[in-house]
Amino acid sequence: MHRLILWGARVALVVGVLVSAAWVSEAARPVRARDEPLRVGYDRAIAAGMRAPRARASIVGGRGASIASFPFQVALYDPRAGSPAAGFFCGGVIIDATHVATAAHCVVGSGSSGSLEVLAGSTSLSRPDAGSVRDPVASSSFDSRYEPASSDYDVALLTLARPLWSSQAPPAVNGVSTIAPLPVDAGRALAYGNPNITPAVIATASGWGDVNPAPGSGPGYPTSLRAVRMPLVSDGLCEEAYAAIEQTITPRMICAGGGRSRVDTCYGDSGGPLLADQNNPPRPPGDYVLVGLVDFGNGCAQRGYPGVYASIADPDVARFLQLGAGHRATPIGKQAKKKRKKRHRHRHR
Ligand code: ARG
Repeated sequence: MHRLILWGARVALVVGVLVSAAWVSEAARPVRARDEPLRVGYDRAIAAGMRAPRARASIVGGRGASIASFPFQVALYDPRAGSPAAGFFCGGVIIDATHVATAAHCVVGSGSSGSLEVLAGSTSLSRPDAGSVRDPVASSSFDSRYEPASSDYDVALLTLARPLWSSQAPPAVNGVSTIAPLPVDAGRALAYGNPNITPAVIATASGWGDVNPAPGSGPGYPTSLRAVRMPLVSDGLCEEAYAAIEQTITPRMICAGGGRSRVDTCYGDSGGPLLADQNNPPRPPGDYVLVGLVDFGNGCAQRGYPGVYASIADPDVARFLQLGAGHRATPIGKQAKKKRKKRHRHRHR
């Protein structure tokens, strides 16, 4: 914890002495505060003698991606920051014309929904593509069973102010459309739940998250979408890995990566998609199945620690998203508001 505060102070100092407004807005991003419990886990691992990983390429270890390949991906940002790039803090997944799935930890404590917008249909955060849409979030709700300490039930649903398309039939994920939904389907995701299969299923994740896995060297956020491919990991293996830092892997979670190749999602990718190709051979993006939402990790891209994702195959997770989407979010939304107030007082966590 002290190390964490020290690091924060160091960042503040660097920002104070140094540079541009861009840097300030990056360092001030809420992603960092939201990650505190995980940073604590990370610090524990460092204290236990693990060496901090060195900086790697982006998402971590991924490659540039076009929004047409991930048309269900949105960026969550605070419009008060002035632009999507400056206010960016999380990812999300379009599940129908007016609903976006994301992580609960992305919206808890975010205050009034007026301070939240999604950017859809854009590869770039800094120069939103032609045809992209900025849509205010009218209301947000998260699963009432969400536990910040364990990240259990880390799932939330955003209801948008305006539908993302007006046609009766939703646009298709076909490599051409830049805005399209990826439905929540627990049945299809189940084929990839507890992936104890050899050879491992290779999954894909996307986002604008941190490219720099080492906290000591400061964040590095790309402004262009990135994607990464990595194997799904069995629940047993993942549980074993995280037992070392006393983090429980619950049935609401699915894991990916953590191998020698050091690829992973990272800070800022939260709420974004973990995808499996359904067909053999794979035919992305048309055959993508949503299997998870980016949730947490022990730092990023540390060997032996897979990334952890909220599992769409879990019936509770899927039901929360589907019921919320069906019911325009009022009943759960009320609950969420009550909880949010309480959480506000514990912001420092
Ligand atoms: N919690 C992070 C966020 O808010 C995502 C971290 C994912 N970490 C990982 N090692 N896969 O963006």
